[in-house]
Amino acid sequence: MFNTLTALPADPILGLLTQYRNDNHPQKIDLGVGVYKDPQGNTPILDCVKNAEQLRTDSETTKVYIGPTGSEQFNQLMSQLAFGSDHSALLADRVRTVSTPGGTGALRVAAEFIKQCNPDATIWVSDPTWANHTGLFEAAGLTVKTYPYYDYDSKTLKFEQMTNALKQVSKDDVVLLHACCHNPSGMDLTNAQWDEVIAIATQQGFTPLIDMAYQGFGDGIDEDAYGVRKMAQAVENMILCSSCSKNFGLYRERIGACTLVASNTAVANTAFSVLLYVIRCIYSMPPAHGAALVETILGTPALKQQLIDELTVMRDRINGNRQMLVDKLIENGVDRDFSFIAKQKGMFSFLGINAAQVEQLKQEHSIYMVDSSRMSIAGISEANVDYLAKSIKAVL
Ligand code: LMR
Repeated sequence: MFNTLTALPADPILGLLTQYRNDNHPQKIDLGVGVYKDPQGNTPILDCVKNAEQLRTDSETTKVYIGPTGSEQFNQLMSQLAFGSDHSALLADRVRTVSTPGGTGALRVAAEFIKQCNPDATIWVSDPTWANHTGLFEAAGLTVKTYPYYDYDSKTLKFEQMTNALKQVSKDDVVLLHACCHNPSGMDLTNAQWDEVIAIATQQGFTPLIDMAYQGFGDGIDEDAYGVRKMAQAVENMILCSSCSKNFGLYRERIGACTLVASNTAVANTAFSVLLYVIRCIYSMPPAHGAALVETILGTPALKQQLIDELTVMRDRINGNRQMLVDKLIENGVDRDFSFIAKQKGMFSFLGINAAQVEQLKQEHSIYMVDSSRMSIAGISEANVDYLAKSIKAVL
């Protein structure tokens, strides 16, 4: 049976991990997968996580099955982190959250849930979007179409084209939006633009699915949730997929959350029962360890403050890297304007070079980024930025 298969190429993002690890170049630079790195190029465990792990080791009493919803406390704390504890949707009891295996698990659960709601649904994603979105939704049997988003020439949003496209979306379809730190472009909606998109969602009646994988990496935990919070107030139905990979640094623990916002408590209960069925059919129940760490952090004021402080350090460092690269390119006599990199947000920006130049950076300089020229800005450091700028100059 396996003889019928044709080999597939490595994943465009994760495949870079292996290539980078196998490269012996002393100055190699990893700008591939979106993980935070400190100035030494390491991805350390956050102190708040270390402290939570200690508390957890001392207090854990069982490894018995947790059930398809995962930890109730985690679910409650995650919805409060996303919406703020006094959000009208929470107070009206129309929100239901489950723990999932990472943000990707949340998206897959959401996709299967959408299929239960409407097997013919189209999901509209930004052009471009995270490389895995399309494959993930198509694997669940949904039709994926794109709406205009990033203008590669002007390095800004195609906002008017985006809103024109959204005004055509039917009430039976789903629109995927990035809460903050758009992956891969780093171009986010302003609050005023969110307001316009929310007005269109209300008018058209489509279901927004918001992917929030970087809460805290844009401007701050509350600031980054502006669109999520306002959308949940305005629309009848909404899905939110959150990840704890980046903001809690829990990448390999695979912990995230899928949240449904329904029009009222009764609909929320029905939708929740369908969500649990979907989960049971995929992985039965989520892993517990990452959720236990997150709930310990969010439920312990001193650890929550430690998280906020550590997130601030990570966010400031990435923003500093953005300006540092722009300055270094100028210092090295590059005359192309890269100032847009310093204005964008989150972990990624497109450098704006072609695939052949990306390949040249890899082959001749051991600098790794996604073919689209998406760079993970966290991989830049004081120690490598000069080499990076000189290498970019060489391939331009
Ligand atoms: C990324 O976009 O690099 C991250 O979200 C990691 C991944 O799974 O692709």
